[in-house]
Amino acid sequence: MKPRKIVVAYSGGLDTSVMVKWLSEKYDAEIIAVTGDLGQKTELIGLREKALETGASKVRIIDLKEEFIKQYVWSALKAGAIYEGEYPMACSIGRPLLAKMLVDVALEEGADTIAHGATGKGNDQVRFEVAIQTLAPHLNILAPVREWEFKSREEEIDYAIKHNIPVQATKNNPYSIDENIFGISVECGILEDPTETPPDDAWQITVDPRNAPDYPVNLSISFDKGIPVILNSHEMPPVELIKKLNEIGAMHGIGRLDIIENRVVGIKSREIYEAPAAVILHKAHHELEKLILDKDTFRYKQNVSNKIANMIYDGLWFTPLFESLMAFVDSTQKYISGEITLQLYKGNITVLSRQSVFSLYNEELATYAEGDKFDHSAAKGFIHLYGLQFKTLSTVRNTKKAVKNINETVSL
Ligand code: ARG
Repeated sequence: MKPRKIVVAYSGGLDTSVMVKWLSEKYDAEIIAVTGDLGQKTELIGLREKALETGASKVRIIDLKEEFIKQYVWSALKAGAIYEGEYPMACSIGRPLLAKMLVDVALEEGADTIAHGATGKGNDQVRFEVAIQTLAPHLNILAPVREWEFKSREEEIDYAIKHNIPVQATKNNPYSIDENIFGISVECGILEDPTETPPDDAWQITVDPRNAPDYPVNLSISFDKGIPVILNSHEMPPVELIKKLNEIGAMHGIGRLDIIENRVVGIKSREIYEAPAAVILHKAHHELEKLILDKDTFRYKQNVSNKIANMIYDGLWFTPLFESLMAFVDSTQKYISGEITLQLYKGNITVLSRQSVFSLYNEELATYAEGDKFDHSAAKGFIHLYGLQFKTLSTVRNTKKAVKNINETVSL
């Protein structure tokens, strides 16, 4: 099918800028450039002009920050979704929302095709395309970066220069950066060598913990049903809350991650991330759950968290299983209300205090001092029955073994 009207996921970077021109030339199609504002700061400056100069007939920049946090970030936070135990997935969480935005715009504008700038090696192509296919199966999807003739960044830059596409910022930056309000990821350049420590210039927003202030800062975060709502006694709307935590966290060197991760396509990649707010919020939320969830739910939820993290990373947000698992998560969050106080100091987070009216922590049961209400005599019977099956098993097997040993000795 020859595309007639193409909605392009436009970031203003080298790939998507070249893509707008390349698509309009190759297909002689109308190009609508669309950018979702997920809180990526620098990238939005001059974006509209750049897209129009490059050949788009229309540009739409859509503010998705609040929707992103309320519908996507909070879900991941409630789920405790952290990929491979470390990565809070700012990028992975943003993709389904961007895919939804592209579909909405395509339907509104009567476009027949959506094009994105993700590469053939990465996770984002999977996330975009699985989501778009699910939300609007009739739309055609193009991924020019996977198929075009440019063999290197330099060739793309040559093409850009030939077509008057501004590339200066791109040329000077050795890294590939993806940013939104929940975190920033940096890859390429020297980072591709996992034996190399990230150089100072690779970190974009956080202060080196060694240069962070010599005094700590305390943060009290109150949650309502798993969602953070109050910071240091001030009620805060979602966007403001995340911005504030990023600012304070970055200043104290919080949220730097240097990770080897397993990509969907089977490659291992090395990336660094900066996500101060994400790291702070996951820590506080997890701490509150430890206080409030019963043991069985807490343990079971750990498996669900892991599964949800893998599903988000693998691009499976808009699927029935994801919806069902999130229904479980939401049900666990009914009582996750209370306050956690943390201290930030030179890249570290320490829990100072936790409190909730729904806390299951009972000092009379926990204490080793006077006032202990725990029935110690009940423990004896409990352990007798609890371990009975293993006692029985060992008795049988050890007896059999003893008989076998005797027989072997006799036959000798
Ligand atoms: N590896 C991360 C993910 O798949 C981040 C990818 C971001 N892209 C980038 N150009 N740095 O979620």
